[in-house]
Amino acid sequence: MNKSGAGELQQRLGRARRVAVLTGAGVSAESGVPTFRGADGLWRKYRAEDLATPEAFRRDPKLVWEWYDWRRQLIARCQPNPAHQAIAFLERRSQDFLLITQNVDGLHRLAGSIRMVELHGNIWRVRCLEEGKTTENLDVPLQAIPPRCECGGLLRPDVVWFGEALPPEALQEAFDAAESCDVLLVVGTSAVVQPAASLPMVARRRGAYVVEVNLEPTPLTSLANESHHGKAAEILPRLLAFDSAFRNPHSAFEGPGGPCSP
Ligand code: APR
Repeated sequence: MNKSGAGELQQRLGRARRVAVLTGAGVSAESGVPTFRGADGLWRKYRAEDLATPEAFRRDPKLVWEWYDWRRQLIARCQPNPAHQAIAFLERRSQDFLLITQNVDGLHRLAGSIRMVELHGNIWRVRCLEEGKTTENLDVPLQAIPPRCECGGLLRPDVVWFGEALPPEALQEAFDAAESCDVLLVVGTSAVVQPAASLPMVARRRGAYVVEVNLEPTPLTSLANESHHGKAAEILPRLLAFDSAFRNPHSAFEGPGGPCSP
């Protein structure tokens, strides 16, 4: 804790050339979006092999789309929470920044995040299996299940299913950021799904200061420089001095961007 009471993280953020943040379903939990492996997680109620694999879609595209339409209707009722907002605030105060999200819900962008990659795609985009074209579709509910492209081709959700490769550009950008960041925040991920789960190890090995925020310990906890267990929407604004920065422009953490103008 330095003289202005700033913790190690804030000191590091104040000196950081490059900052990266990795998020998972836990960052959207307080917005009402179910996680996958938590107590009421989706994979406790539904079988991933029936709903989130290319084989499942080939077998029964209607069933898969009914499930994605349900998730879209649920997410459409959700708003970004203070954890999303604190991450967007950190981006505005960071010179070189990348948000790496595993979430497909689009809430980070709604919170104002710009410099980001969606490793697992986005539930508000669809892809034509004939033309390979990707388009945005915000219909809630979907007008037809399964939805079809103007060309008549079957559309699929533009998300990454189990057994599928991640978008190569997004993956490369994510690993580049992990390899060169000075600070990596890891928020609300169980860190069991690869390759995203390797990013913190890469960053740590390259000397980055790794900070975990999660309701409970994860396989990352022993590796992180700091681990904060609790709700992201409560912890992250405090850790990033998000609120105080607006009320008190001379907050402990003054990144290269300087105090923000409310
Ligand atoms: N604040 C902080 N952390 C939370 C909160 C909260 N309010 N609620 C839950 N968590 C934590 C849980 O403790 C858990 O470690 O968030 C994590 C969510 O883990 P998962 O449900 O496994 O989600 P995620 O890590 O994003 O899954 C990775 O797996 O199913 C696939 O493609 C899907 O992107 C997803 C990937």
